Amino acid sequence: MTESQYARSDQDSADVVILGAGPAGLVLGNLLLRNGIDCVVLERAGRDHVQNRARAGFLAAHTVRILERNGLDGGLRRRGREHGVCEFRTESGRFRLDYRLLGRGEPHTVYPQHELVADLLAQFVDAGGRIRFGTEAVAVTGADGPAPTVTVREGDGRPGRWRARYVAACDGRHGAGRRSLPPGAVHRHHRDHGVSWLGLLAEAPPSLDAVGYATHPRGFAGHMARSSEITRYYLQCEPGTRPEDWSEERVWDELDLRMRATEYGHLRRGGIVQRAVVDLESDVLEPLSHGSLFLVGDAAALISPSAAKGANLAVLEAEILARALTDALAHGDPEPLASYSDRCLVHIWRAQEFSHWMIRLLHDIPESGSASLFRERLRHARIASLRTSRTQQDWFAENYVGI
Ligand code: APR
Repeated sequence: MTESQYARSDQDSADVVILGAGPAGLVLGNLLLRNGIDCVVLERAGRDHVQNRARAGFLAAHTVRILERNGLDGGLRRRGREHGVCEFRTESGRFRLDYRLLGRGEPHTVYPQHELVADLLAQFVDAGGRIRFGTEAVAVTGADGPAPTVTVREGDGRPGRWRARYVAACDGRHGAGRRSLPPGAVHRHHRDHGVSWLGLLAEAPPSLDAVGYATHPRGFAGHMARSSEITRYYLQCEPGTRPEDWSEERVWDELDLRMRATEYGHLRRGGIVQRAVVDLESDVLEPLSHGSLFLVGDAAALISPSAAKGANLAVLEAEILARALTDALAHGDPEPLASYSDRCLVHIWRAQEFSHWMIRLLHDIPESGSASLFRERLRHARIASLRTSRTQQDWFAENYVGI
């Protein structure tokens, strides 16, 4: 690539170049903008795609407070619903935990992530934020020096280049941020849990007024309300399952079976509008930065969806990074940036630990050297202790809602 081929985009620069317009990138962009920091968001996809992509929907109280103190909570205040009960259906009966009244006494707010993204986007653009859709970051170079560069590919294939003082990689696990880390710069901790879920989005009203977790000899099943018309379901499936092998009828019959419809009532059926297989895995990069490149959200760590922590961690990390970048750029204090990684990793590992515990609560996971009946008995004991011990319930509630 010759210098002249970059001619047009050589004008392009910002103090902070943010890769990706998910919750991480958009919270960061909004906060930097409010603090008067020059930034730009580069997003590979188009605007419609970004704000219509159905994802998670459970916001922790801490996340709501971050959005609230930064004036980003308008939509969720109007349309979000407080939620604070989960129901476990197990081999030994069912029980409910009203986690609003346990632990720190905090509820979740159910607010579909794509609506949050649409709000954050509208607010960023209204406040004069710069965002380039259809611009894919290809690589970050020079991150170990003071002037990193992001090379990009525009939607029409033209190359471009952005100069920055800092780059925030909020572009997910397959993004350019992770790819650009030099070998050996960070360590990747990785755990494949050996469990897969068929994730389903149904045009059907919720069937329970609680998050439902069912353990069953045929595997786990989950129920999570998204809105009064849309419900997310999960079915544990064999790794390698093809989603198209699951007809609507098969999905609903299996959900009814595992959720024990004959005892507790049939599920309210509807069209399945989305199905995808998710392999439960976790990974954490350590540290979360390399020179002037910082990793946020899924780019920093991947957490299994069992405890709905992904988006909540992303928002928390974005706030920590926004403050640290503001201290560095507006007040000449680089110290908070230097401790960004350590501060986030404390929260990330706690969330990983809880999600790991949830995975073992809800699934029988083969481990070498441990007989399956022994594992099964341990899992039943874990469920029994959650059912009967107030101390265990408080611990659950604090970790389930908290970060
Ligand atoms: N260049 C520019 N944009 C990119 C690139 C790239 N090379 N690669 C990916 N992107 C964009 C994606 O199109 C997406 O819009 O980065 C964005 C990443 O957004 P998310 O995947 O939502 O990631 P994040 O903001 O970290 O969200 C955190 O929310 O629902 C949960 O599971 C989700 O845990 C995740 C969390």
